[in-house]
Amino acid sequence: MKIIAIIGSPHGEKGSTAKLTRLVLKGAEREGASTETIYLQGDSVLPCLGCDYCHKKGSCFQKDSFEEIRRSVLESDGLVLASPNYISNVSAQMKAFMDRCSGMVHCIGFQGKYGASVVTSGGGDEEPIADYMNHFMMITGIQSVGSVWATMRLVPGDEFPQDIATRAIDLGKRLVSASKNKEVFPEIRKKMDAFEQRMRTLMQYRKDEWPYEYEYWKKFKDLR
Ligand SMILES: Cc1cc2nc3c(=O)[nH]c(=O)nc-3n(C[C@H](O)[C@H](O)[C@H](O)COP(=O)(O)O)c2cc1C
Repeated sequence: MKIIAIIGSPHGEKGSTAKLTRLVLKGAEREGASTETIYLQGDSVLPCLGCDYCHKKGSCFQKDSFEEIRRSVLESDGLVLASPNYISNVSAQMKAFMDRCSGMVHCIGFQGKYGASVVTSGGGDEEPIADYMNHFMMITGIQSVGSVWATMRLVPGDEFPQDIATRAIDLGKRLVSASKNKEVFPEIRKKMDAFEQRMRTLMQYRKDEWPYEYEYWKKFKDLR
């Protein structure tokens, strides 16, 4: 059982987001998972160029860490997406990663995996950001088991208060147990089914422009 955490903070392992994520991973490890953390710092994942190359060919030609990160996610059982609140949204680093996953959205390429999201902020508004990362996971085929967040203004000292720490550790445990038991979350499944229908129609419409994705759908999703 392998859980990958992707941290979208320029502060990397020293930041609050990484610190909260470490508690989630601690929970996952207590349930027997091995974990790996990927930091989206600097230009490790460049912004999408909007060229459609990945839709046509199946991968991006930009020379950065994206393809390696994607491979790691594909080989994992679970994904933790973690971002600081940057102006009421995910950080640019996290958004660049999400945009570069456009092909994984069209192909619902992370299907069968489980996820969780982590947000820290200076002053609040974390929930819509966590919901957005959970939505991203849903449209790539990942069922999210939930989220944890912390408003750093309210965190005195170096340690998270017990309630937040417990929530984070429990989230990590929950992620592993959902994956072990291949749980189905009916509400998420319903949204995934509707999204899959939308992508199926898109693939039929774009079959000449996006041959890689069209072939993927024919091979793995029974598209005729
Ligand atoms: C560019 C930028 C934008 C930010 N925007 C917000 C914001 O809109 N609301 C908020 O509560 N905190 C905001 N913050 C504060 C961060 O969310 C907060 O410090 C977070 O815990 C940083 O996590 P990190 O240490 O992992 O980078 C912002 C910080 C930066 C640098």
